[in-house]
Amino acid sequence: MRLLVCGGAGFIGSTFARLRLREQGDQVTVLDKLTYAGREENFHDFAEDPGFRFVRGAIEDPQAVAAAIEAGAPEAIVNFAAETHVDRSIAEPDAFVSTHALGTYVLLEAARTLKGTGEHGLRYLQVSTDEVYGSIEVGTFTEESPLRPSSPYSATKTGADLLVQSYFHTYGLPAVICRGSNNYGPYQYPEKLIPLMILNALRGDPLPVYGDGMQVRNWIHSTDFARAIGHVLEHGAPGEVYNAGGPDEEANITVVRRIVELTGAAESQIEHVTDRPGHDRRYSLSSEKVRALGWAPQVRFSDGLAQTVAWYRENGWWWEPIRSGEYRAYYERQYGRSLQP
Ligand code: NAD
Ligand code: TYD
Repeated sequence: MRLLVCGGAGFIGSTFARLRLREQGDQVTVLDKLTYAGREENFHDFAEDPGFRFVRGAIEDPQAVAAAIEAGAPEAIVNFAAETHVDRSIAEPDAFVSTHALGTYVLLEAARTLKGTGEHGLRYLQVSTDEVYGSIEVGTFTEESPLRPSSPYSATKTGADLLVQSYFHTYGLPAVICRGSNNYGPYQYPEKLIPLMILNALRGDPLPVYGDGMQVRNWIHSTDFARAIGHVLEHGAPGEVYNAGGPDEEANITVVRRIVELTGAAESQIEHVTDRPGHDRRYSLSSEKVRALGWAPQVRFSDGLAQTVAWYRENGWWWEPIRSGEYRAYYERQYGRSLQP
């Protein structure tokens, strides 16, 4: 298949591009703005693949989207492009609104109207998140659960999902949505819990746990989520939503203690710090609907976490430039202290 992968220079988008090129023999054109989180280093092992192209541009820019469509002649659009960090959405929500609302709109319009489309437009997959359902103390969210987002990140992702559904209902665009739980794995930008804790543990920095650390997340390995997205793209029914959750839930403090063990860091590096405003207590996702289509997660959290720690340990070339760049200034603003050199 010929795919336009928007946001494909990020963590999950590049994982998806790699798997589609290698496992499906797809042709992949990535359109990505290269924000702080998007990096050409994420293509290092497939940049020369003859089926791969990269176009730098923003999804909210109709000309960039048209150029990427011209370059790749896609049969489907998969949209990963997003601002993805909840803490940044609390500090500076602007880009979340423009990328999620305006960017998704521009892509939907392109899918609906640009040349090369079928009667109702190109197949379109929106990558979304369990955070649109909000927090759940007990039980698990299904696709029918009400949408109750609580951060600027999740609220703008929810708005994008609703716009996608409106294009199915109004114009018949063959659009599907795939909502994932918390991802982890290689190539994840170190602002997120797991890579932040791994790098701080390896470098002797404090491990900043928000509040009591008893918040629970449902962890999915990025290769499992990427395969779920591919599965929904191929087998999902237009207009439908599919949840893809990981096999294991863990409290943050348990995850951090396990990283301490795996890295050989000191337990005394763990520090409880001021909690995130409006912090969601627990996420939990039922994946019965996509499992009925034939997908199942393959990686248990304990194995995936050990592999992820090993990857960061062995791939300093990937993260050392990040820790000495924009991330260092972000870290100081967010945590009120500097990272070790
Ligand atoms: P990421 O931050 O690593 O990557 C996002 C990518 O989007 C970057 O390459 C960035 O340059 C690009 N981008 C941002 N704004 C853009 C714009 N306006 N135009 C073009 N490109 C733009 O994020 P990720 O973790 O890979 O997440 C990818 C998708 O998966 C997002 O839609 C996110 O909401 C969703 N998701 C993430 C998780 C998770 O735990 N990371 C879980 C569920 C769903
Ligand atoms: P994060 O990786 O930001 O993902 P999300 O907020 O989308 O779930 O955070 C995962 C959990 O870890 C969340 O409960 C917040 C917590 N957390 C910390 O305790 N300390 C940190 O430094 C970070 C980044 C997150």
